[in-house]
Amino acid sequence: MRVLTGIQPSGVLHLGNYFGSIRQMLKFQGESELFIFIANYHALTSLKDGEALRENTIDAAISFLSLGIDPNRSTFWVQSDVKEVLELYWILSSYTPMGLLERAHSYKDKVAKGIVANHALFSYPVLMAADILLYDANLVPVGKDQVQHVEITRDIAVKFNNTYPNSLTLPEFKIDENVATVPGIDGAKMSKSYGNTINIFTTQKELKKQTGKIVTDSTPLEEPKEYENCNVYKLCKLFMNEEELSELQDRYRSGKEGYGHFKATLKDKIWDYFGEAREKREYYLNHKDEVRDILNEGAKKARAIASKKMDILREKVGIL
Ligand code: ADP
Ligand code: TRP
Repeated sequence: MRVLTGIQPSGVLHLGNYFGSIRQMLKFQGESELFIFIANYHALTSLKDGEALRENTIDAAISFLSLGIDPNRSTFWVQSDVKEVLELYWILSSYTPMGLLERAHSYKDKVAKGIVANHALFSYPVLMAADILLYDANLVPVGKDQVQHVEITRDIAVKFNNTYPNSLTLPEFKIDENVATVPGIDGAKMSKSYGNTINIFTTQKELKKQTGKIVTDSTPLEEPKEYENCNVYKLCKLFMNEEELSELQDRYRSGKEGYGHFKATLKDKIWDYFGEAREKREYYLNHKDEVRDILNEGAKKARAIASKKMDILREKVGIL
């Protein structure tokens, strides 16, 4: 079973990204053949600053390596290092009805928000289909917003297979239903676009500031407090086992401590949880050549598969 996913290099990672997505990806690494790449061609549709895209790409690679992507157990590369994907993108374009793309929610949402659409934004799902079909992926773990793109991939593959039977593998998407939405410091969904994040890689001082801003009710220190709906408690749940949670509940009920104390506990938990990842990140930041080598190796592995697949597909469609 081949599991494949792409990650947009979109800057600073937060707790929502980790518990909502990254942790699931890491699980696949032990269980299946994981193919994972940094989708820098896709990022180009929204980021028009070359220097920033270059930096974000390496930064995303460093973050994912630090958080546990193991290049010995998975294939990890940068999308643009395997150019075959662009050739397949073009071939698939000829099998993609306009209506299929016109119905894409993510495209329609962006246009509705007033973003001036360019062709790449419109054809984004075709490139994503190429990403998936090039490697004969069976399973694609994605967030809810990306499900339709995997469905479009299947539709394109069916169209192609109608002309050239048994050429492309139809992928399934996988969304983790067990993953709760991680709340931000204001209680709404944690998201970069809401400015309510707690970031994974940050300084102790900044982490203290971010956790310090978590919105709570104003129950005085000496009164027992509700924990069920408390944002601090909800975030603590991500980091604590049953026993620790039960202790924390006692502290909420005791009326001896205020929210500031619980926030300090949360801050320590987050800091410790990502301690090892932080050290690795520090290391890779100082050894970027090593990161580039890892990515090159990953691209080599990916390209070996991509190039064989393209030989077959080119032959079928009649490209010399
Ligand atoms: P943002 O909303 O900050 O821009 P992205 O859209 O880049 O985050 O999300 C990347 C991945 O992280 C997606 O798979 C998404 O499902 C997951 N994710 C982001 N925020 C949360 C959250 N608050 N709770 C659960 N998962 C999240
Ligand atoms: N579009 C995906 C996102 O924004 C990233 C992505 C690109 C991807 N190619 C992919 C995800 C292929 C899964 C499979 O999150």
